Amino acid sequence: MTASSDHEAAAARRMARRVADLTLEEKASLTSGADFWTTTAVDRVGIPSVMMTDGPHGLRKQAGASDHVGLAQSVPATCFPPAVGLGSAFDAGLAERVGEALGVESAIEEVAVILGPGINIKRSPLCGRNFEYLSEDPVVSGIVGAGLVRGIQSQGVGASLKHFAANNQETDRLRVSSDVDPRPLREIYLRGFQRVVEEAQPWTVMCSYNRINGVYASEDPWLLTQVLREEWGFDGLVVSDWGAVSDRVKALQAGLDLEMPSSGGRTDAELVAAVQDGALEEEVLDVAAGRMVDLVRKAQARPAVPGPLDVEAHHALAREVAARSIVLLKNDGPILPLAREAAVAVIGVFAEKPRYQGAGSSQINPTRLDTALEGIRALSTGGVRYAPGFMLDGSGDAAALLAEAVQVAAGAERVVLFLGVPAQEESEGFDREHIDLPPAQLDLLDAVLAANPNTIVMLSNGGVVALPFADRVPAILECWLLGQAGGSASAEVLFGLVNPSGKLTETIPLRLEDTPAFGNFPGENGHVRYGEGLLVGYRSYDARGLEVRYPFGHGLSYTSFEITDALASVRDGGDVAVTVSLSNTGAIVGREVVQVYTSLPDSTVQRPPRELKAFQSVELKPGETKQVALTLRRSDLAYWDVRVDRWIVEGGRYTIDVGASSRDLRTSTTVEIAGDDIGLPISLASTFDEVLAHPVAGPALRAALESGAGGRDEDLLKMLGNFPVGRMDGFPLPRAEMVAIIEGAQEG
Ligand code: BGC
Repeated sequence: MTASSDHEAAAARRMARRVADLTLEEKASLTSGADFWTTTAVDRVGIPSVMMTDGPHGLRKQAGASDHVGLAQSVPATCFPPAVGLGSAFDAGLAERVGEALGVESAIEEVAVILGPGINIKRSPLCGRNFEYLSEDPVVSGIVGAGLVRGIQSQGVGASLKHFAANNQETDRLRVSSDVDPRPLREIYLRGFQRVVEEAQPWTVMCSYNRINGVYASEDPWLLTQVLREEWGFDGLVVSDWGAVSDRVKALQAGLDLEMPSSGGRTDAELVAAVQDGALEEEVLDVAAGRMVDLVRKAQARPAVPGPLDVEAHHALAREVAARSIVLLKNDGPILPLAREAAVAVIGVFAEKPRYQGAGSSQINPTRLDTALEGIRALSTGGVRYAPGFMLDGSGDAAALLAEAVQVAAGAERVVLFLGVPAQEESEGFDREHIDLPPAQLDLLDAVLAANPNTIVMLSNGGVVALPFADRVPAILECWLLGQAGGSASAEVLFGLVNPSGKLTETIPLRLEDTPAFGNFPGENGHVRYGEGLLVGYRSYDARGLEVRYPFGHGLSYTSFEITDALASVRDGGDVAVTVSLSNTGAIVGREVVQVYTSLPDSTVQRPPRELKAFQSVELKPGETKQVALTLRRSDLAYWDVRVDRWIVEGGRYTIDVGASSRDLRTSTTVEIAGDDIGLPISLASTFDEVLAHPVAGPALRAALESGAGGRDEDLLKMLGNFPVGRMDGFPLPRAEMVAIIEGAQEG
């Protein structure tokens, strides 16, 4: 028995004891919901029902009518910036503080588990739900996601890491098969989940709706048991996404513990019947029911939280985080920050009616809502005039709105123009069809720019948009969706009360056609092929040498930074310690996100030109210099080797580039890393290259070739590299000699 199955067996015994007093029917009922949001109680033995609620950037607790697409009203809660914003801060500590606040709000509302964070990879900008996800990069998703989980769970409330896994689109999301090769699946799509599980142990993981390589996530023993529990050591509960169970018996056998929402008893009866007719072992049900009991006991142990909610304090945190989420894409002049005494024209209806969250199950009923217009008016002393410029529902006289906007713009010193994606274009439940801003908004931009070139563009969007006008405007602030305090936070950044420090967690491409999944999204006839393989996000643009509008990791500041003197060394245990010197060379306080990328020239496996492995957000006073220390985990250097089905760190001299974005690398060093022994079995079917790379057979073969007639012949070795050594008797060695080399190595 292996260590992990020992562990599993011990866990199973523990679980069986937890549920020893329960009847078969009670155990079945425990592993499904009582209704839309609560688990089933077994009053007879004192197991209460607990509540689970969305998630992920605020609490969506429905007190009345229930639905999972955000239609019916929920109790007021703080709407923090959705993941698209929070991720841009590149700051696990900040995420942890948001998590703590979410935990407090959940505790006050007596919610046991909050359904988040969502950490799926942004594979295509067309995914309608990208606003709920953190990044196109698994290290960002993993580190920031772990911060959120730690924060939530520090309050005695459970997190639900979702949607596990390879759920990267909304089209046909309940059935589509994400057809992904093992390397991208492990290295891109599962890596963030692995990190969060290993670092933060979420109480629950939510399995996704879709299939992976043909198998429903909810019925996949490889995913839910082998990978999640046996490899990663997850010891919590797996809950289905709402309605993700297609076959309850298969799901339970695969490792899905809790079906949500309630099936009204229908699938509980299926479980009972399956146990009775021998199709399902009762021990499997015991394990799932035992995990439910565990979850309930953890929830019961939550310390009492003194309510009521401190609305002001949480709103202030939402504002701080929103300001940290904003990415300054461009600032020629510099035209920003605005002087308080400047006469400002505010144009664009988003200034007054903010788009601050996305539609669907994550839709929060906010406790308050700030608008940018109010925020700007509060900070300006030079006068503010406002024109909506366009109406989101197409109402109003478009020509008149445009004319009014032009007139307001012409009379101002500075124009702040709010553009964005209309809410109906991005939502849970469907994907986007393009990445363009509406034509009416682009027309408005042209007219406003002609009237006043000093125009700053503020963008509100959950997924990236093409910015064909980027060269024609002096400044752009990417404000994403910023939650309930985004309006005041935007004003603080515009006037320089907060120095912007957000960075792009996803590339802004020039065109949709350049995006890595183009042509393979959203698939057809029930399948989507992840044909771009490992080349997701910046990995793809860099590998193909494509120009982008703004690269991954990009984001400017009102001050300037120098990053110099990269040093790297291998620590005991194999992690790599990297230090750089970071200086604020400008005149104001600011924050830089130091980003560490690695590459391995001459790697024997496919690798993108560079990959992010660590980052740190650091605040510096003007003139200040700090030594920044970062750790690259050895495990993050590994690739997934399909020959042995394991993570392998390839040996060699790695390049370590440290910079302010993926395309603004400032200082570089190298470090020699000892490789893992793959222990690849060799045979007469192995190629010359494979045998030469083997620790025992390699030197023996080399020696035999050198002592042979032709001596060592590099050209010959190059030609023979791909040739199985046993294929041609007598060439270039006598067969008996070749067999002896191989057998000698096999014995060793
Ligand atoms: C979503 C989940 C959500 C659940 C409950 C589903 O439709 O995919 O993210 O947590 O509903 O509302």
